[in-house]
Formats: sequence, C-alpha cells, structure tokens
Amino acid sequence: MSYRIDLTVLSEQKQFCRFGVTLHNLSDQDLIDWKLQFIIDRYVLPESVNHGEIKQIGSFCTITPDVQILKANQHYYCELSINTAPLRYYTDGFKDALVVEHNGEVSHPVVVTPIALASPYRERSHIPEVEASKLALIPKPNQINLLDGYYLLSPNSQITLNSTRAEGAANWLQVELERLYEFKTHSIGHSDILFRDNPILDEGEYSLTVGKEGIRIESGSAAGFIHACATLLQLVEATDTRNTLRVRHVKISDSPRFRYRGMMLDCARHFHPVERVKRLINQLAHYKFNQFHWHLTDDEGWRIEIKAYPELTDIGSKRGPGTALEPQFSTLKEVYQGYYSQDEIRDVIAYAAERGITVIPEIDIPGHCRAAIKSLPHLLADSEDKSQFRSIQHYNDNVLSPALAGTYEFLDTVLAEVVELFPSPWVHIGADEVPNGVWIDSPSCKALMEELGYQCHKELQGHLLRYAEKSLKKMGKRMVGWEEAQHGNKVSKDTVIYSWLSEEAALNCASQGFDVIMQPAQYTYLDMTQDYAPEEPGVDWAATIPLEIAYGYEPLKNVPESDPIRKRILGIQCALWCEIITHQQRMDYMIFPRLTALAEACWTNKQHRDWKDYLSRLKGHLPLLDKQGVQYRQPWKQK
Ligand code: ACM
Repeated sequence: MSYRIDLTVLSEQKQFCRFGVTLHNLSDQDLIDWKLQFIIDRYVLPESVNHGEIKQIGSFCTITPDVQILKANQHYYCELSINTAPLRYYTDGFKDALVVEHNGEVSHPVVVTPIALASPYRERSHIPEVEASKLALIPKPNQINLLDGYYLLSPNSQITLNSTRAEGAANWLQVELERLYEFKTHSIGHSDILFRDNPILDEGEYSLTVGKEGIRIESGSAAGFIHACATLLQLVEATDTRNTLRVRHVKISDSPRFRYRGMMLDCARHFHPVERVKRLINQLAHYKFNQFHWHLTDDEGWRIEIKAYPELTDIGSKRGPGTALEPQFSTLKEVYQGYYSQDEIRDVIAYAAERGITVIPEIDIPGHCRAAIKSLPHLLADSEDKSQFRSIQHYNDNVLSPALAGTYEFLDTVLAEVVELFPSPWVHIGADEVPNGVWIDSPSCKALMEELGYQCHKELQGHLLRYAEKSLKKMGKRMVGWEEAQHGNKVSKDTVIYSWLSEEAALNCASQGFDVIMQPAQYTYLDMTQDYAPEEPGVDWAATIPLEIAYGYEPLKNVPESDPIRKRILGIQCALWCEIITHQQRMDYMIFPRLTALAEACWTNKQHRDWKDYLSRLKGHLPLLDKQGVQYRQPWKQK
C-alpha cells in the first residue's frame, strides 16, 4: 500500500457539511506535478476547497493541490464542503481514488479507507421472529383453500396442454422444475399437470387445483398460465426420492390487483451483462411481475446498439481514461464499458416474453443525454449555448437542445430503430430532471421561443416531447415518460406518466387526466439503503427503506374505493438505479427480499396483506432463494 486517502466529517448541519481529506504518500518516492482524483456522489462546493482547486464532472473530481511536491512519507491535507444532507453510510464516501502525475501519464492506485462519519444512525430496524410458513407463497394469492394431502409428481409425470395459450407457461414450468429441482417431466405418461382454457377468466387471472387427480391449471390468458406456474413452483417440495416431488392439495383462485406490475433496471450507470438481466427477468416472473422497464441510456453510458449511429456505442458506451467520457461511480483507472447489440436485445425480449414479461425500452431525453451528446457532437451539441446550469448529478452539458435540427434527426433515427426492435406498445422517453437554467443563453432557443410565443423554458421541453409523442404515435406506439413529461403542458393525455416523487404527485397527475404508473421513491427505489447501519450499501436521498417500510407500502391507501381517480392508476413499479450496483452480489442484496414485499403491493388485495403473515411466508421461501444462490439481505440475524 503506497498511497492511502482518508475522508473525515469535520462538522455537519442539515444542509452543510465540512470534510477533511488526507492523502498519505506511503511510498519512498516524492510525488511531483501531481493531482488527486476521486469519486464521490455529492457536489463539492468549488470555493470551499482550501489548499487546492477542484474540478468536478458528475461524480468525478480532480483536485489540483497548492503544493507541487508531496514528499515520501508526508501527507497532503485539504478541506471541502457540500451543501446537501449529511452522510450516514460508508457508500456515501469516496468510491475510488487515484494519484496522477505528469498530466495523467502516470497514475498510482490509492487505498480508500471508510469515511469517518460524524453521527451514524443509532436506531436499527427490527424484524420480529416468526415461524416459517409451510405454504410460502409470495405474492399471496387472493383466494386459497388448503386441503389435506399431497400429490406426487413422479418420473412418469406428463404435462398436458388443452390450451395453445399455455405453451409458453408449460415450457417455462419445465425449465424451472429442472433448474430448481432437477426434475424432468415426460412427453408421454399420465397427465399430471393439465393446462386448460377457461375464457371466463380475466387477463392474468388463473385457477390452480391440486388434488388426487393431479394438478389442474385454468386461465383465459397466456399471462394467467405463467402466474399459475409461478405459484406452482412455490408449492412444489422436494422429497427424499430422486425425481419425485410433492405438491400440497390446494385450490387457488387468483388475479392481480394491478394490471401493470413492473421493475425498472438502470443499465446505464453500470452495465449489466445479458445473463444478469435475464436472471432478473426470470426472478420477476416468479413474483408475477409483467413489465421490465429497461433504462438503456443516461449521462454515463449509452447501452443500446443503434445501427445508424455506431458512434453512440463506439464512443458513448465507454468511460474512463482515454475515452470521451470521464470515469464515474466506480473505477478511475480502467475503462468501463458495455452495450447490448440488437441481437442480444431481441434475445432478451424473447426470453422475457416466454415469461409473460413485456420489455419497455427507455431512451432518456432531453436531460441525461451526456453520453449521446459526446458521441454525436456534430448533431447534438449547441456550441453557441452559453447557459449555466448544473444537473442533479452535476453535469453542465447533458441536455439536448429543442432548437437544433440535429436533435430531431437524432430522435427520429433512434426511435425508428427502437420501435422496430421492441414489440412493446409503449416506449419510455425519460424526461426527468432537466435542470433549471438550461437553454436560457442559447440564441437558437431564444429564437424558437419567440417564434412559438413561449414564455417559459419548460415549454421548450414540452415542445420536444410533444414531437416525440407524435412521432411515436405515427409508428404505432404510446409514449410514456417520467413525471416531468407533463411539464410545459404540451404532451397529450395519451402519454402515461411514471410518477416517482411521491404518491401524492402521482395522484396529482391522475387528477389531471393522465394514466399513471406509481413508483414512489420513498418505498419502491431499491437503491435506497435497507437499514440505518453505516455499512448498509445504498443511498438515502428519498428514504431509508427497511423491509417493513417496503412491505408497508399500501398503494392508494387514502383514496376512497369509489374515487374515479383509481381507474387512472394502471399499476406499480419498483426501480433499481445502479450508481453503486457494480456486481451481482450487490444487485441481489439490494433487490432481495424487498422485491418480494413490493410484489405483494402489486398483486395482493389489501385485505389479504399482513406484515407478520408475509414474514412467515418469506421465512418459508428463503430456502428457495438459497437454492438459486440469491445473495439476499438476511432479514433475520443468523444464529
Ligand atoms: C428518476 O428517479 N430520476 C426518475
């Protein structure tokens, strides 16, 4: 260890904290003409740095110290401040650090010690002890009759299809029985698992009867058959005999509470390989989700192949030394990269479809576009725009201009390929977090505002989004976007709003006449920490979300049953933003078990939901997660 950096909280108030940074040169060489690089999520106030100057682009900071030489066995110290909430978790500290010499030609790795926090939370969430339920079904079916006895599935068991709609479900069931229980069914044998059409049942609804005669599954929809199989896979128990399983006699009639049940995965901040994405999609099917919202583009990476613009992935999918995008979030020294080819995307879509899941692509505009702008500056950069702004993630050059012809050319071209690729009837256009101050000092934006008689810059955003909405409509798609898509009052009520600020904000959009997907960050953002201990990974800008809080999310709690606004709420979604999700283990830890709690908010009617009952089912369900190597956060302390 030749270099080490310590970050210490010196003082903290609600919206102002000061830190000490110490870089130790533990090598036997002096550092000459050097700079310090580090990664931190918070914005460092530039004037606050003593003993040096800071430059920050996103989470990437460079300090040029006021001492040219740092002698061997000496240290460099500076202080800096932020004007946001105090830090409570180790993952709030430096994610990586590097010392560079001679204009970056030489670099030295630096060991980062955990941040010395001023006042870590003292409280901890407590999960009551419960007995593991023998009927560990999650989400809880809406009607269950438990009967005596078990049905045995043997090596001669056969799946019989009396419904063409059930083909996908039956295939999935076979794949999962083999994966989870090493159990194979036969193409010829006695009809143990019978899939039958029942046209009376609504979309997603199913009945599952296990009795002496075997397992009978009925549905009127392909989705219903999939959900029935998800339930069956949780009912199945291994026995002592190889290739023999038992299933409790039961009669279940079940249907979803919300018709849209989704999860968003951010693959831009960190890239998740196809296998990881598929693993998640398969897990979603097990908990009866039916939508996968794929966040494919952002400031820090463009992850979808667009044939017309190879630059988007040649340039925009890479960040780090020697590339057009600075390092962000995790590693400073290595180039970080990844994107999905169109063939891979088709493969993921087909995989999801086999599991009853629609893949909704998101191309986030006009903010969150830095990777695109850096890839296609001749189309997307407005060189005359002198506006001063800073996005929430600390960029000043990440917004498309509604006054550039190139923006529309880009949009037309990208959306045409996206529409061709994704069968989903919806395309998500982002629209979130466009910073204040943008476009103000752009001559072309000023001229456009004058031409259109606009008073406010938000109208420019609305103008661009309305264009996107109309283009998508012409191509047969419905535009969906984040909460801010309705800013500027230009898009039609055909646009579906994904509300993330709060449930109140969602209801506000619904009362304006928009259809809404509710994704309140305070309950559904799985990148939020799960408890108050400093070693919990995650962020907490919206909330800390222990399992009990996630489970406690009761959608539309304060909206009367008779209120017509309920019809506008199409469903619920949870989300994993991936600034700190660098590997599978971290992903599992953040998602599980909270995903199972939220699955129940999506599926199970309020009157059947109960925290303690859920916990006992969760306890009974954990062995199935263990079997799959899911590295979930332990709800109960291990003895
Ligand atoms: C969001 O969290 N910016 C949608």
